Amino acid sequence: MLSVVPTPLTVRAPAKVNLHLGVGDVRPDGFHELVTVFQALSLHDDVTLTPADALTLHVTGEGVRDVPTDPTNLAARAVVALAERYGRDPNMRIDIAKGIPVAGGMAGGSADAAAALLGAATLWGLDIERDELDEVAASLGSDVPFSLHGHTALGTGRGERLIPALARGEFHWTLALAREGLSTPAVYRELDRLREAGDPPRAGSPDDLLAAVASGDPHRLAPLLVNDLQAAALSLQPGLRRTLRAGMEAGALAGIVSGSGPTCAFLCASADDAVDVGTELAGAGVCRTVRVASGPVPGATVVP
Ligand code: C5P
Repeated sequence: MLSVVPTPLTVRAPAKVNLHLGVGDVRPDGFHELVTVFQALSLHDDVTLTPADALTLHVTGEGVRDVPTDPTNLAARAVVALAERYGRDPNMRIDIAKGIPVAGGMAGGSADAAAALLGAATLWGLDIERDELDEVAASLGSDVPFSLHGHTALGTGRGERLIPALARGEFHWTLALAREGLSTPAVYRELDRLREAGDPPRAGSPDDLLAAVASGDPHRLAPLLVNDLQAAALSLQPGLRRTLRAGMEAGALAGIVSGSGPTCAFLCASADDAVDVGTELAGAGVCRTVRVASGPVPGATVVP
């Protein structure tokens, strides 16, 4: 039976950037063992759930032509998974307003899944512990638990096992969105190929980076940003080198490919600097569009 809550319910979920992404070897299940530090950023998707007679999906915003509106969409799968586990009727209308770049390495799909999970659990009045929601989240995708939790966190396993990390203050980011997306599995496969062909350097321990995040000093954090997937993303989209260079020339403290890319994330000294870097990047023609954002921000949250 559907919820008695008659009004639509909106949940907002954030994008993420990986401040540290250490990729281990591929496991027997096909996933890679990760040591990563996530930070949630102030770019959001809004997911609105309305009780209905059928499960339908409607997506608006930039890049929507690449978002599936069939049952393979992660938000729809989230609702179905939760309904099956708790014996509910999954029928509802799901409206997704995309603010997170699609196929950009910023966990947009995971944000939608996290928002749909929290939304459905709220609509149905499910009395469940956060661990149970985390378990369903992890079954949907490696980044979905982080999208639920937000803030800054150390992720291990395939990225789904989280320990909250201390962060002081606010970090300011400029994001350069690429013209074409990248497929996450393809980027991991490319890293495996690069590693078979040679031995690209691997990220070490994130301890120094975690201390820098706790200090709140972006100058201290900047040289420690690292992403093992960056070499693979650059191999598949060589033009991203120009984007990274342009961001540094524009005054960013550091630039890094976000997750599996192709979004490039630039850490800046202040909110004003982030706007300046964005303006220069936009003018340099090295990306499709730019966004400024700050972090950390909370994970999926019901919009009052
Ligand atoms: O878990 P998620 O659905 O986000 O993963 C998408 C794909 O990314 C996986 O199918 C896998 O190819 C790759 N991946 C990986 N190791 C991880 C996370 C993702 O190889 N830890």
